[in-house]
Amino acid sequence: MNTILPSHTSSLSRLNRMLAGKQYADSRFFILVDENTYNHCLVPVVSRVSRLQEAEFLEVPVGEECKDLAIAQQLWESLLESGADKNTVLVNLGGGCVSDLGGFVAAGFKRGINYINIPTTLIGMVDAAIGGKTAVNLGGSKNQVGFFYQPAITCIDPIFLNSLPDEELFNGVFEMLKTFLIGNPEQYKALVDMLLCGTLEVTADMIASCAEIKSAVVKADPKDQGIRHILNLGHTFGHAIESFSHQEGQQSLGHGMAVGVGLVCTLYLSVKKLGLAAEHLDRYRQVAAKLMRLPHYSLKDTEDILAFMRQDKKNAEGDIRCVLLQEIGAPVIDITVDENEIRDSLLKIN
Ligand SMILES: NC(=O)c1ccc[n+]([C@@H]2O[C@H](COP(=O)([O-])OP(=O)(O)OC[C@H]3O[C@@H](n4cnc5c(N)ncnc54)[C@H](O)[C@@H]3O)[C@@H](O)[C@H]2O)c1
Ligand SMILES: [Zn+2]
Repeated sequence: MNTILPSHTSSLSRLNRMLAGKQYADSRFFILVDENTYNHCLVPVVSRVSRLQEAEFLEVPVGEECKDLAIAQQLWESLLESGADKNTVLVNLGGGCVSDLGGFVAAGFKRGINYINIPTTLIGMVDAAIGGKTAVNLGGSKNQVGFFYQPAITCIDPIFLNSLPDEELFNGVFEMLKTFLIGNPEQYKALVDMLLCGTLEVTADMIASCAEIKSAVVKADPKDQGIRHILNLGHTFGHAIESFSHQEGQQSLGHGMAVGVGLVCTLYLSVKKLGLAAEHLDRYRQVAAKLMRLPHYSLKDTEDILAFMRQDKKNAEGDIRCVLLQEIGAPVIDITVDENEIRDSLLKIN
């Protein structure tokens, strides 16, 4: 796997040089887009990457709706009808939904063709486009069918952030906070200080650093059998909070924001159970409140969220297990938390 990280030279220009090389001489390119990435991201790509000027397009619905087996089947059929073969390369130009689906389609077509991720959201750049987890949703549950299948290239270019709506940017900032919480205390502090001052400048350095932390963890545990679990910090809560938020009458939260709320609970339990300094919880809560309106849960809500948590695929033997922090930068996996601790943490979000 090749990862082109943002630096002083344009990542897309470096991708241009790579694709002009011998290795891709016989390749035929298809670009997978959704409506937004078609409108906002295609021009920067085709104007900088000459081999992609001749590419054909495949468009899918925006958001989670595209992570669907029926859509994957349509894409396989379109590829087949267009005469795609083993030399076909699928280029996923989009956020995490497009890259999760595109990776899945690439993994299945002809038992696996090469694919390239060009993430266009911050979540994609720091998380979803790296690591080879591909998936579609099934029966209303997220990521139920998928493969570990690594992209041939991931090209991370912050240029796409120019058109990204603030809310999507904030979703990504929460994933950055998560990544720095597990892997880089200095950068965590710098990002928190910046946000507390009321500014947000997502720099190429910060994106590159997150991408490097994620890549290193994936390299150590590509199949998610141990250490890779640390990337789930905030996610046992986050996934349940995300599902709960999509119910009628609730404040709907994107993935990153739901994880952001989950991180409040996670830090709360880290203070209680692992002795993390309480000031970290306070500061994080202030930061989260700058980026979103933190939800206030009733007792009934906590029961509903708990029900989602019980379904979480990461639970072993009926226990609910979380990643917690001993210190910033020192995650501990597989900590069993009991249901009262979970209720308590959900009631203490703000
Ligand atoms: N595979 C992994 O390791 C992994 C990791 C994290 C998240 N994910 C998955 O990623 C998905 C969430 O990712 P996401 O938030 O990037 O979702 P997304 O792909 O739905 O993108 C969010 C929104 O931004 C729009 N958009 C994308 N790029 C844009 C741009 N440059 N300008 C304007 N609009 C743009 C999209 O059309 C969409 O409306 C979830 O399905 C999640 O499960 C996967
Ligand atoms: Zn996430």
